[in-house]
Amino acid sequence: MYVYFRYTVIFGLLLTGMFGFLACQKERVEIEKPHPYTLDIPKNFPSDLNIPIDNPLTEEGVKLGRFLFYDGRMSGRNQQDSLMSCGTCHIQSSSFECGINHPKFKDGHPFGLTGIKTPHVMLPFINLVFNNNGYFWNGMIHPSNPNSERRTLEDIVYMGVIAPHELHGDSIRTVKMIQSIKGYPELFEKAFGSNVVTMKNISKAIAQFIRTLISTNSKFDRYCRGEEQLTYQEYKGWIIFEEEADCANCHGSILLTNNLFFNNGKQTDFSGANEDTRDRFHYTGITSDIGSYKATTLRNIDLTGPYMHDGRFKSLDEVINFYSEGIHDSPYISPQMQFASNGGMHLNADSKAALKAFLMTLHDNDFINNPAFARPALFPDNSN
Ligand code: HEC
Ligand code: HEC
Repeated sequence: MYVYFRYTVIFGLLLTGMFGFLACQKERVEIEKPHPYTLDIPKNFPSDLNIPIDNPLTEEGVKLGRFLFYDGRMSGRNQQDSLMSCGTCHIQSSSFECGINHPKFKDGHPFGLTGIKTPHVMLPFINLVFNNNGYFWNGMIHPSNPNSERRTLEDIVYMGVIAPHELHGDSIRTVKMIQSIKGYPELFEKAFGSNVVTMKNISKAIAQFIRTLISTNSKFDRYCRGEEQLTYQEYKGWIIFEEEADCANCHGSILLTNNLFFNNGKQTDFSGANEDTRDRFHYTGITSDIGSYKATTLRNIDLTGPYMHDGRFKSLDEVINFYSEGIHDSPYISPQMQFASNGGMHLNADSKAALKAFLMTLHDNDFINNPAFARPALFPDNSN
């Protein structure tokens, strides 16, 4: 309970008494405590959530975070020249990626206000609250990161505001801008007990909103809960995914990812001019991490092309062909890529079609249409 004590000096007569006196009285002004936000998580999902003790989910925090996430003024510029919010790139209809058909970000490769491209293609926001193994393609945003400002989802918000390839903002200007917008200070007070806007509370609010972005209602989910049947082809694809093609070694469990990092055998320049200095190796220094990246979730995978950290595959067919016959063996390839020495598992056309049909069952319409995740129609100052 947020309780504020205001000391009011009251001069006056005590009506019940015979004489006047000076009274010093405590006046209690109570601001309602924020209400806990309940995540609706089915029983077959993990219970180990990535929610820090100092930033529990609250209705008020999530509501504020949603406004800030979609507000172009977060770059610290005024409405006229502010062109970018988190939601410019992380778009709900594309599972909070920009999608391959974005009119501006050709081939799904976004750039920030400066025009500088992001080093990798995008990652979606989907079930990040279940990820305790680090964020970004290389997992560098992790509690063990020696850089204390790059450890949590909250830190990523800060980085997104500042980065020249994203909002290209400035923390002082952004705070000043949000503080000056009618309606925001009140929302900060409700969420965090103070109407003074800070980068810390901005980051907390947006991180809370991102943690609510949960997908649990794909056809595959309904199948797992016994609510809907898969077709024969989808079922066959699932068996291939789980057993024949070993996809589940890395994209397994109900999350369709184990949130770990692997070298999955793409043809890669490990030392030449095209070497990627942002693979997992460049973060951990461990040789077996050369060419390793996050095995992303395959939920809503139909929406998030182009595929892989560098967007080298434009379609799911290209990805399936790669795993089937395009694997490039190297000293760094993950032992989980069991068909590596053969160049892949060599699926026939029927099996490829079945595998693709299964991947399409991971599409979650409710997630991309959930009004609670959408851009608000009106912002706190009633602008749109
Ligand atoms: C210009 C487009 C762009 C904008 C604007 C942008 N992002 Fe991103 N975001 C990306 C890209 C690209 C990645 C993948 C980064 C990587 O791993 O190399 C990413 C990754 C992330 C991730 C990590 C997801 C994961 O699974 O690890 C989070 C969280 C995130 N962004 C939050 C934000 C927030 C919050 C904002 C607003 C402050 C924002 N982003 C603005 C492009 C953008
Ligand atoms: C050894 C672990 C491993 C196995 C086995 C594996 N993958 Fe992957 N997968 C990864 C990694 C790591 C990435 C990201 C690589 C990158 O970005 O360079 C990835 C990326 C993908 C992507 C693109 C994701 C995106 O967001 O761009 C798809 C689709 C995919 N895998 C499907 C499959 C399928 C289907 C199978 C089985 C035929 C499979 N994977 C087997 C580790 C694996």
